Amino acid sequence: MAPMLGFTEQVFRNTFVKHFGGLDAAITPFITLVEGKKIKERHLKDLFPEVNQTLKIIPQVIGNKSDQFVLMNRYLLDMGYREVNWNLGCPAPRVAGRKRGSGLLPYPEMIESVLNTIFQQPHPEISVKIRLGYQSPLEINQIVPILNRYPLQFVAIHPRIGTQLYEGKVDLDTFERVVPQINHRMIYSGDIFTLSDFEYLQQRFPEIHDFMLGRGILRDPFLPEKIRGNASLNDNNLKQRFESFCTELFHKVVENSTFEPNALNKTKEYWTQFSTLYQNSTSIFNRIKVVQNVLEMENVLFNIFNNESFKN
Ligand SMILES: Cc1cc2nc3c(=O)[nH]c(=O)nc-3n(C[C@H](O)[C@H](O)[C@H](O)COP(=O)(O)O)c2cc1C
Repeated sequence: MAPMLGFTEQVFRNTFVKHFGGLDAAITPFITLVEGKKIKERHLKDLFPEVNQTLKIIPQVIGNKSDQFVLMNRYLLDMGYREVNWNLGCPAPRVAGRKRGSGLLPYPEMIESVLNTIFQQPHPEISVKIRLGYQSPLEINQIVPILNRYPLQFVAIHPRIGTQLYEGKVDLDTFERVVPQINHRMIYSGDIFTLSDFEYLQQRFPEIHDFMLGRGILRDPFLPEKIRGNASLNDNNLKQRFESFCTELFHKVVENSTFEPNALNKTKEYWTQFSTLYQNSTSIFNRIKVVQNVLEMENVLFNIFNNESFKN
């Protein structure tokens, strides 16, 4: 499961694996590196071991200060984590503009300096998740030799550049050129929405054995099972399985939220994607987006589940 801030926090991860199969692990949405005195319990709550018993997780951090990274590594080791992933891909302007996420890719010397320091201190296994660059896919050329100098656990690549955000196409030609240059295990991430998207990538990149699913699992939560060739998928129970997942997710989101409007907004965000499974997707989302309270959401969902059909 790809990290998706605002979507794949522990409530979603745990509910997902209770209802669907096919995933090996999740990288968590990023935790921002901060000075020691700013690390509060709240900051790490998505990583608490007691809420992460159902799916293996790899905590992800974002930042550019090696002392903060070293400190976070100590916290993670104390919490029992043996791996951490460094986010070098986030394209959000307020993140990238501060030389974090993909905003660090034009500064290879900063990346090297951070890696150099953290590898000299106690650390879990380190991996990175990167884009091809921030402004240009040529930036990856300066990054690869640095990554190759450190014993990284894996390199996950989302083959877009930062300024593209999530627009345009993934740049598979540059990705193809870069793959043989990287001497680490590689994970591919980007635009796998259907089984045939996956099969195309698997055929084109036989040297890649690990794939990350992000928006694809929100639009089709059965996708990991389809990719694994799970034979138990039969048309009759798909809708029922999906709807029992949605019901539980909604209740857990409400339980975990101290403010009703936040729980409703989060549910509406999920339904921007979930509604696409249904024939009347636009009308369904229109009904959900105007809901004002929890009881009303329960009624709207009940009506959708009883009256609406899945696509094909
Ligand atoms: C809403 C949203 C939040 C995301 N949050 C993160 C994040 O916290 N860390 C990260 O490395 N990538 C993040 N990503 C990028 C995804 O992990 C993934 O690489 C990207 O969406 C491409 O894969 P997909 O097409 O399968 O979604 C996010 C993407 C989206 C759409």
